Amino acid sequence: MLIAQISDTHILARALDHPAAKLRADCLRRCIADINQQRPDAVIFTGDTVQHGQPEEYARLRELLAPLDAPLYLVSGNRDDNGALRSAFGDHSNLPGNGDFLHYVVEDHELRLVAIDSTSPGERKGVFCPARQAWLDAVLSDQPDRPTLLFIHHPPFDVGDHYVGGYRRPEEAAALADVVSRHPQVRGLLCGHVHWPVERQWAGTEARIMPSVAVDLRKGVDETEARERPIYMLHRLSEETGFVSQARRVDAEA
Ligand SMILES: [Fe+2]
Repeated sequence: MLIAQISDTHILARALDHPAAKLRADCLRRCIADINQQRPDAVIFTGDTVQHGQPEEYARLRELLAPLDAPLYLVSGNRDDNGALRSAFGDHSNLPGNGDFLHYVVEDHELRLVAIDSTSPGERKGVFCPARQAWLDAVLSDQPDRPTLLFIHHPPFDVGDHYVGGYRRPEEAAALADVVSRHPQVRGLLCGHVHWPVERQWAGTEARIMPSVAVDLRKGVDETEARERPIYMLHRLSEETGFVSQARRVDAEA
């Protein structure tokens, strides 16, 4: 199964007279054009879709995402507003229309996809409270033999000096690792938030953090080579090859 991942686009409203508004929109537009050429089975968007959680930002985001051919699965980041995101993407049948959390399961693909909500209003750090712990454990217990991919905004582990103590409570990050380690059908965890590329083993599976699509916010990438070129990820997962990730640098003419 081929999955494209985008993250941390931090889209601003069209009316905002700020160079970053045009730049970030252009980064996403170019990624979408290239993703369509790659023909992935699904596109996963790991949050911080917009900058301030405002309806006019989500309106702009929808315009930019409209050309996307593949099915799109979103989770929110700390910059998102779950209510505004729900309103803007009310036609996305996988998104729960009510309830406290924007988490859900997608059963339509070779891999089972599980979206985990690590946000809480007014909280910059990740949250994985007991209610979410119980939900994820029940979801994963439901189909223990089906290969599964998880996605979430906040990575539940530290990244060098750049991202330390990223969860509201350390025990909540530890609880996520504990749940995942008890379900060996989990093939991986895709994250955003840090704007920095990381690949590591975690909780008995593979974890990936991708850099921000917004190039003005990106960290940890060789900027002498590719300052102007947005990056998204292509993840290929199969029983034969395992979990293979490629960073796609998108040309201006894409
Ligand atoms: Fe972000």
